[in-house]
Amino acid sequence: MAVGVFDSGLGGLTVLAALEKRLPDVPFVYLGDNANTPYGVREADEIFALTCAGVERLWAEGCDLVILACNTASAAALRRMQETWVPRERRVLGVFVPLIEALTERQWGDNSPPREVAVKHVALFATPATVQSRAFQRELAFRAIGVDVEAQPCGGVVDAIEEGDMLLAEALVHSHVAALKRRMPRPEAAVLGCTHYPLLEPVFRAALGPEVAVYSQPEIVAASLEDYLNRHPEMRGEGGASRYLTTGDPIATGHRATTFMRRATSFEPA
Ligand code: DGL
Repeated sequence: MAVGVFDSGLGGLTVLAALEKRLPDVPFVYLGDNANTPYGVREADEIFALTCAGVERLWAEGCDLVILACNTASAAALRRMQETWVPRERRVLGVFVPLIEALTERQWGDNSPPREVAVKHVALFATPATVQSRAFQRELAFRAIGVDVEAQPCGGVVDAIEEGDMLLAEALVHSHVAALKRRMPRPEAAVLGCTHYPLLEPVFRAALGPEVAVYSQPEIVAASLEDYLNRHPEMRGEGGASRYLTTGDPIATGHRATTFMRRATSFEPA
């Protein structure tokens, strides 16, 4: 048994790298739905159907626990999946809640009523579908009172990353940060609410300025999964190297992944 990690494409590899570093004894199976990326411009029903298909593929690999290392799937599909689709003996977890727990200074899994928190002005950078779902605001409202969220849909950034056009991706980040700052000139915190964005974290930081605290998901999700596996040891796999599956072209996907992650990564067809 291994832990499954799913994303629409390459972005989830940023989460996987942090998971492997923090949990070196846990085997992971990664699935990138590169044939259907990006999800962030799709309708919620379509994202639900694609995400369910990806999760089923990982279940077929023996992964009873699957992490949706994709904010768009977590925002647009996870609640519906958990309420209507995931069988009792399996678990699907997202990347939103750990991030919000970190932002609101909560212990992992602390479900106590919402309270005042230090941060008051938060900038959210995410895909159009994630912004449209308002899942971030909903999950935040369960935990915190009086936080003003300004969300910027970052159209085009995932496409540019998937195509390997990092110059375009950088230019788009600058323009999205400028657009956000016109509406919220002084955010205290910025959330990189898409798992592709850590690949551009220095660009976000430079555009936002040193006074803005940047929350990026990989380490936060890894810390929360470690805590979860300590509480649910039956979900922890044993031994074995990670495997990487893609619905797209394994050679092209492997090349991009190797460039982004700066280590040889080869993909198998899903
Ligand atoms: N990495 C996905 C996320 O975190 C990208 C979504 C997309 O495919 O547009 O939202």
